[in-house]
Amino acid sequence: MALARERGLPLEARDFVAGGAHPIEPASGRLGVLMVGLGAVASTFVAGVELVRRGHARPIGSLTQMGTIRLGRRTDERVRLIRDFVPLADLDQLTFGAWDPFPDNAYQAALRCGVLDRHTHIEPVASELAELEPMSAAFDREHVRRLDGPNVKASMGKRELVEAIRADIRDFRESRACDRLIMIWCASTEVYLEEADVHRDLESFERAVDADDPRIAPSMLYACAALMEGVPFVNGAPNLTVDIPALVDLACEHGLPVCGKDFKTGQTLVKTVIAPMLKARMLGLHGWYSTNILGNRDGEVLDDPDSFRTKEETKLGVLERILQPALYPELYGDVYHKVRINYYPPRGDSKEGWDNVDLFGWLGYPMQIKVDFLCRDSILAAPLVLDLVLFTDLAQRAGMHGIQEWLSFYFKSPQHAPSVYPEHDLFIQQTKLKNTLRWLMGEDQITHLGREYYADDWSTAR
Ligand SMILES: NC(=O)c1ccc[n+]([C@@H]2O[C@H](COP(=O)([O-])OP(=O)(O)OC[C@H]3O[C@@H](n4cnc5c(N)ncnc54)[C@H](O)[C@@H]3O)[C@@H](O)[C@H]2O)c1
Repeated sequence: MALARERGLPLEARDFVAGGAHPIEPASGRLGVLMVGLGAVASTFVAGVELVRRGHARPIGSLTQMGTIRLGRRTDERVRLIRDFVPLADLDQLTFGAWDPFPDNAYQAALRCGVLDRHTHIEPVASELAELEPMSAAFDREHVRRLDGPNVKASMGKRELVEAIRADIRDFRESRACDRLIMIWCASTEVYLEEADVHRDLESFERAVDADDPRIAPSMLYACAALMEGVPFVNGAPNLTVDIPALVDLACEHGLPVCGKDFKTGQTLVKTVIAPMLKARMLGLHGWYSTNILGNRDGEVLDDPDSFRTKEETKLGVLERILQPALYPELYGDVYHKVRINYYPPRGDSKEGWDNVDLFGWLGYPMQIKVDFLCRDSILAAPLVLDLVLFTDLAQRAGMHGIQEWLSFYFKSPQHAPSVYPEHDLFIQQTKLKNTLRWLMGEDQITHLGREYYADDWSTAR
């Protein structure tokens, strides 16, 4: 690099990336999707996949099913569907399993959660949903205080729980004849836990499991069991779970991908589009007030201040990372950022997210942006579950182990290497994801430099 600089040679991103396609195992056989939690997100996801398989609905919101990718120069006009470009498992290859402390099968869960219209979207796939019965959960009220269900594993130590989950995984793999599995956390948000010495390396973690240490949450037991069984792990909630050095080490030791945390769906999705816009235009920010009303079980769990604190951390971190106040103290050095979640049962899954943004422009004149996003939580989250399952399976077959930062696109608080800060800007995340797919398939990176389209005109003009 230094030599190139000395000689005045311009370098492009592609000069830092090894060319050529990477070997990827074929996506053949059955892919088992093991969901921890069979609530609103999980049941909406499974019902959706079943409906799409039958041609009764479209997979709207899913990049793997509907997205395209440009290859080569703009003038080449090579645009492919992502699912035709990279070898992804097909929806017909998916088979589902779940754990939940409530014994409702996916049909009952879908009815209870009230996300989907019963006659249009639940009854046509009722038998498939009813077949999905949850296995007994590794559940601890100390970690999710607002719930108490009967379908839990008998009282036992944490080591025995890990072994019981491992046995569930093996039984599922065998009974469904799965070639590969992915585990995804679609369960409730656990109470706030800070990374501690017991999480820092595998040896301390194992000792803490054996000692029933309260800092080892149920989600960590599921993740540990998955990794020990050779199953990649995805975390859709803000809990620490697999975002601790001990479990990242375990994933690397077993050559498995992991990613998280917290599906980026409603308000934070909008925030990670508006905040980069403010920064791109050097518009200042006085304050950002975000509030939500929602009435589903997730909202009930988040009504517990300790579970909310876990969520609050991931929701608050976003602005500071995007706006970089240390670099722009005049614009972002004194921002008042508040996030609220209010449990309001009448709304069910139809969340309302309000944002009030107090910004300032030229000569300091104040302005405001108001956003009122009348969204549906699980409708936004379900396609993310599908994409994460398919992309994590791709990563596994391509031998990409450890943290999958290229999947940051899907998370509020992307898991990242300790040496770098997380990338929150939605469109940088999208570029990262698509460039990773190009890199995997041996295609050129798209740098958006674009000089090549103008070089001829310049030389003739001169
Ligand atoms: N829907 C969204 O837009 C969105 C966005 C980001 C994150 N999330 C997160 O995704 C998760 C699922 O959301 P949801 O709306 O489906 O919630 P939900 O309450 O409908 O479902 C969660 C399920 O997990 C079960 N559960 C709790 N602890 C468990 C354990 N130890 N083992 C197995 N099951 C357990 C609960 O009984 C419940 O049925 C939540 O943590 C939520 O914060 C959702």
